[in-house]
Amino acid sequence: MTLVAPSILSSDFAYLADEIKKIEAGGADWVHIDVMDGNFVPNLTFGAPVVKKIRPVTKMFFDCHLMVEAPEKYIKDFAEAGADMIVVHVEATRHLHRVVQFIKDKGLKAGVALNPATPLTCLEEILPYLDLVLIMSVNPGFGGQKFIDTSVDKIKKLRKMIDTRGLSVLIQVDGGINAEIGKIVCEAGADVLVAGSYIYGAEDCAQAIAALKI
Ligand code: DX5
Ligand code: ZN
Repeated sequence: MTLVAPSILSSDFAYLADEIKKIEAGGADWVHIDVMDGNFVPNLTFGAPVVKKIRPVTKMFFDCHLMVEAPEKYIKDFAEAGADMIVVHVEATRHLHRVVQFIKDKGLKAGVALNPATPLTCLEEILPYLDLVLIMSVNPGFGGQKFIDTSVDKIKKLRKMIDTRGLSVLIQVDGGINAEIGKIVCEAGADVLVAGSYIYGAEDCAQAIAALKI
């Protein structure tokens, strides 16, 4: 069954703790935390101090998606704040292997994210070191965007790449996910679904989460 990681980007920040408890009660597996720096992406969200404050609210796995330039500068802060996994963008650092190593040295799971136009070939060397690859199915920066259809083929190719090499790297998909698209990307090989507006915009968030457990 897929793991569901609701993105708190679409939650009501004024009631962040309650919004996290709501998805936990609704059966979510991970909390997806979208960190934006207004530089790598044209938007700002939250940093490590916020992660530290919400850490005592739940025991759920904290999946921190860093949409920031030079993520190496922030790994220590997020690790100390209570992140369980840190996902960095390949487009955001010159020394990807070093950053991944840094994340693992902190005892955390390490993931790498690819923008829609970034080819899978950039994973060639780093793949064996990873716990997860995040396929962005929208251009990062905002919630509520439309799923980019060509992502399905990219997921299929990545599935093949991982399986052929006998690796156990998870495939996560982020952007424009709803129940219908969730099914399509799972068939293509996804293991973890991120959803913001679909879950937080739903009248019954537990029902929306259940619909993504495919
Ligand atoms: C986009 C973020 C996503 C976003 C997804 O930059 O990385 O995690 O919250 O939102 P939806 O599910 O609404 O597309
Ligand atoms: Zn995200």
